[in-house]
Amino acid sequence: MSSAHPSHPRPPGLASLSPEQKRVLESFQGNPLEQFTYLAGQLGDVVDLSHPEWQGYLLSHPEHIEWVHLQTGRLFDKGYSEPATQALLGNGLVTSERAFWLRQRRMIQPAFHRERIAGYGQVMAGYALRLLADWQEGQERDVHADMMRVTLEIILKTLFDTEVGEQSQAFGRAMDWALGGMAGMFSGASEAQSLFNQGVEEINRFTAQVIAERRQNPTDRGDLLSMLLAAQDEEGSGMSDAQLLDECKTLIMAGHETTSNTLSWAFYLLWKHPQAEARLHDELERVLGGRTPTLEDLEALEYTNLVIKETLRLLPAVWSVGRRAAQDTEIGGYFVPEGTDLQMSQWVVHHDPRWYEQPLEFRPERWAGGLEKRLPKYAYFPFGGGPRMCIGNNFALMEAPLILATIAQRYRLQVLEAPRLEPSITLRPKHGLKVRLEPR
Ligand code: HEM
Repeated sequence: MSSAHPSHPRPPGLASLSPEQKRVLESFQGNPLEQFTYLAGQLGDVVDLSHPEWQGYLLSHPEHIEWVHLQTGRLFDKGYSEPATQALLGNGLVTSERAFWLRQRRMIQPAFHRERIAGYGQVMAGYALRLLADWQEGQERDVHADMMRVTLEIILKTLFDTEVGEQSQAFGRAMDWALGGMAGMFSGASEAQSLFNQGVEEINRFTAQVIAERRQNPTDRGDLLSMLLAAQDEEGSGMSDAQLLDECKTLIMAGHETTSNTLSWAFYLLWKHPQAEARLHDELERVLGGRTPTLEDLEALEYTNLVIKETLRLLPAVWSVGRRAAQDTEIGGYFVPEGTDLQMSQWVVHHDPRWYEQPLEFRPERWAGGLEKRLPKYAYFPFGGGPRMCIGNNFALMEAPLILATIAQRYRLQVLEAPRLEPSITLRPKHGLKVRLEPR
């Protein structure tokens, strides 16, 4: 994977498909999960997805995926150019590139060190418990909406030290407008743009106001923003207000929908697999015996952690990541011209029978006994990897099991309608997750 030359062959693509294969592919129209899986299965580890207006490849071998992740910032960039993403996230950690990104990542990383975020365990479990105050046995609820709410409240509390209340509700509404508007813009709905603009404006207003207040009174409140306000680069300069705004918005956006999707999928999978659910319940009884879980319990909650791990494999909240080639290069013997977009799909790789026995089955126990050590490194990459790896992975791996344990101790969630997968930027349940709350 070094000396690139245009004389290297192009990977097989749509033109290499037989008429029958084309028909099958067409039947998956509008469903990139099925399309990617089918193309990788039929055409191999490097597939040319290009059409006349766009050049892109799908990579499905863990070794290629590892190399692209590790070369990001050199041979590859993230390559975000969507105006809507820029408007929503600005130039924050998710979207920025190269030297600017590195400066920001170095300043923000300490806020996510294990010891610093350890203090948030209590907020996570406490907020899940508070959510349950509204729940009653026999009730029918959209538990995905509940997960969105509780994870938003948690990120707002841990980032801004803001209590649950009107502000977080208003913020949640603005996010619904922005994200709903964005989805509508992709599908061409006419009022979507103004809904999106209104949402972004509200989010900016709220976030800028918090930052301004905290500049006035910069004491360490133990939240993430205190760390960001105090952070300095190697020259001793801090972040401008505009940069803080972008970073805060990015952390809120990147840090709550992913976790709430993971929890909704976990509840769905547990309902579908009563044996796994029974094992989870046994563990919760044995380890907690009715207590609210704390950070100290997490290590003993082995099966709970495996449920989250397996959920992130089978229904990965981030189902595909992209990079753009910054120069001509070569992958797997194929030429990759500068500007090519590369898609690497967790969905495809996590379901590949070369790495997983019965890959479509939900079996948390598959991870016990060192499976991860035997796998190629990027056969499991729910949080990405290399320099651009998720900064919030430890945060999420505290939050998701603590919320799951708190809820599953009290209720069984009876799913009323199988959820539809919506592979938007994240993989989410299209019309939420309707459940009935059954007593334990
Ligand atoms: C289950 C939950 C989560 C999943 C599955 C997830 C997944 C990911 C993935 C795959 C990436 C890399 C994207 C790429 O390589 O293009 C990423 C990046 C990122 N995530 Fe997460 N994430 C989760 C939770 C969080 C949380 C809780 C936060 C913050 C509180 C967060 C903040 C970020 C940020 C800021 C980046 C960009 C990092 C950089 O490029 O320097 N994520 N996440």
